Amino acid sequence: HGILILNGPNLNLLGTRQPEVYGRTTLSDIEAMCRAHGERIGVDVSFMQSNHEGALIDAIHEARGERDGLILNAGAYTHTSVALMDAISSAEIPAIELHLSNVHARESFRHTSYIAKVAVGVICGFGARGYTLAMDAMKSHLES
Ligand code: DQA
Repeated sequence: HGILILNGPNLNLLGTRQPEVYGRTTLSDIEAMCRAHGERIGVDVSFMQSNHEGALIDAIHEARGERDGLILNAGAYTHTSVALMDAISSAEIPAIELHLSNVHARESFRHTSYIAKVAVGVICGFGARGYTLAMDAMKSHLES
């Protein structure tokens, strides 16, 4: 299987951004973890981050027909972006919504998600480990 792991705004700052909320692991540490995990479980990983909504949408369009699954930490766009939701619906590949923090234990504006409406499922609150959990979840979803 091939999966796209897509990261939205401000996630390039992981490691130094509010480490009490998001941990000290950097995005490049996470990418390395995902690539190593992909080799272990036989999943080909593409990994990308952008601060721009349109670039995230382009990446989802490009995944259509090319990738078997999408793991998306859309950052704050999770809570605002109808356009990202529509892109996922149009891509016709299964998506898992992912967050490092437990968004449900935080401010109420983080409790709504446009992504969840079109996702197979949601993983949040497990920090960087959530990425490999999401990969396992996607692999088992694709094989079920
Ligand atoms: C986040 C949660 C979002 O609410 C926030 O805007 C982020 C990061 C997370 O991974 O916990 O940027 O997606």
